[in-house]
Amino acid sequence: MTEVTYHTLEAGNDEELHALKTMISDDLSEPYSIYVYHFFLSQWPELCNIAKLNGETIGVIICKIEPHRDVRSRGYIGMLAVKKEHRGHGIAKKLVRISIEKMIKAGCDEIMLETEVVNKPAIALYEHMGFIRSKRLYRYYLNQHDAFRLILPITSKSTVRSVYLQHSDQLAT
Ligand SMILES: CC(C)(COP(=O)(O)OP(=O)(O)OC[C@H]1O[C@@H](n2cnc3c(N)ncnc32)[C@H](O)[C@@H]1OP(=O)(O)O)[C@@H](O)C(=O)NCCC(=O)NCCS
Repeated sequence: MTEVTYHTLEAGNDEELHALKTMISDDLSEPYSIYVYHFFLSQWPELCNIAKLNGETIGVIICKIEPHRDVRSRGYIGMLAVKKEHRGHGIAKKLVRISIEKMIKAGCDEIMLETEVVNKPAIALYEHMGFIRSKRLYRYYLNQHDAFRLILPITSKSTVRSVYLQHSDQLAT
């Protein structure tokens, strides 16, 4: 039986790039312009991971790392999608795990994302991995749906209010 393989997006591989853009525009409610992809992929290429089966791209996760209020390093999961016919086999879980491990290694204090409050599969996926709901964002999406902001605390810094933390110029990005 052929195994699903996981790797970072190959630089200059237009076929993979096209496949992941198609998957994301088919499955996520927000429209993303080419500039959004360039923003993520040019700065954090190691945080764009794809799942492949028999040469076909069947899953993708795109993340970034940025300082939050200058006091902690925050990983962010920007996009995640698995092709419909391959769902329910643990592919998203594996992609999220790969990203979390990379962001922890890079020194993130926490990992964050937003998802629609009606997206039960995504909420279950992330909450089973330890993410907690930190906020409900009213009409956050263009389709007028609310979002939950979910956070996975990694270090103790994540649990301290930012005003009580010292500014640092050595945060992971
Ligand atoms: C959300 C999504 C990425 C899940 O992908 P997947 O590969 O099917 O997920 P997995 O098989 O890895 O499932 C992992 C966990 O997610 C949860 N989950 C997945 N599908 C679910 C469903 N239909 N209903 C409830 N929980 C579900 C379960 O907790 C599951 O763990 P378990 O199998 O141990 O119970 C996929 O449904 C998708 O691409 N949806 C459209 C895009 C999207 O919503 N992206 C997330 C935006 S934040």
